[in-house]
Amino acid sequence: MTSADNTSTAQRRPAKDPWDLPDVSELVVGVLGGTGDQGRGLVYRLARSGQKMIIGSRAAERARAAAEELGEGVEGADNAECARRSDVVIVAVPWEGHAKTLEGLRDDLAGKLVVDCVNPLGFDKKGAYAIVPEEGSAAQQAAALLPESRVTAAFHHLSAVLLQDPEVQRIETDVMVLGESRDDCETVQALAGRIPGMRGVYAGRLRNAHQVESLVANLISANRRYKAHAGLRITDV
Ligand SMILES: NC(=O)c1ccc[n+]([C@@H]2O[C@H](COP(=O)([O-])OP(=O)(O)OC[C@H]3O[C@@H](n4cnc5c(N)ncnc54)[C@H](OP(=O)(O)O)[C@@H]3O)[C@@H](O)[C@H]2O)c1
Repeated sequence: MTSADNTSTAQRRPAKDPWDLPDVSELVVGVLGGTGDQGRGLVYRLARSGQKMIIGSRAAERARAAAEELGEGVEGADNAECARRSDVVIVAVPWEGHAKTLEGLRDDLAGKLVVDCVNPLGFDKKGAYAIVPEEGSAAQQAAALLPESRVTAAFHHLSAVLLQDPEVQRIETDVMVLGESRDDCETVQALAGRIPGMRGVYAGRLRNAHQVESLVANLISANRRYKAHAGLRITDV
């Protein structure tokens, strides 16, 4: 056997352009906790880009009312129905409710691409600080609780204020996307890229999610000092 025969299929595959991302325009995207600031902002922006969106809530009525406010392309449902009817499910509940919410939706989320955007943070008189979850990060906790789902992490550094402001046409920022599967990460990157000004950038495996989640404490500090809605750019990619 020659060394050429030994080359794995992966090695022989021609290098793919990392910016050649899939068409995600037909995917239904649900948001658990979609009645909150971050969820509502993501739903608004993605629906504005033509994505079919479902707002999830612990109370279907609240979700339907929020969906009505956001208009065309947006529906509301309780979190379980939202999970079942969506191809991609963004988790946008507070850290305090993260584990309990996901545990309760394990079956509804089986087989789904889950995108966790939860930042485990505490606040005291010195400002925001990062909490270190037992599993390492919120995203790793999600992966542990949802063994039959494909868990990724993204959308941590967005300003819900900018997302929700209809006067803001473009949001100039990068979205760090983490996960175990390249295809899943590319789907999430493509989704981020549907929002004008935004780029989804691959940023590693879930074991590196903690520093991405906790960086939000630094952005909050910058926002307070500069009265801003800070975002991030990854340069040279
Ligand atoms: N706000 C931002 O700028 C921002 C940016 C990036 C990431 N994030 C992350 O996104 C998540 C949501 O942030 P947010 O500011 O939108 O929070 P939020 O408004 O406090 O909560 C979002 C929604 O979650 C549901 N919820 C509240 N408590 C819950 C609990 N104990 N269990 C299950 N669901 C609960 C509520 O919806 P229902 O009552 O309708 O169920 C609420 O509308 C957080 O984990 C945050 O770290 C926020």
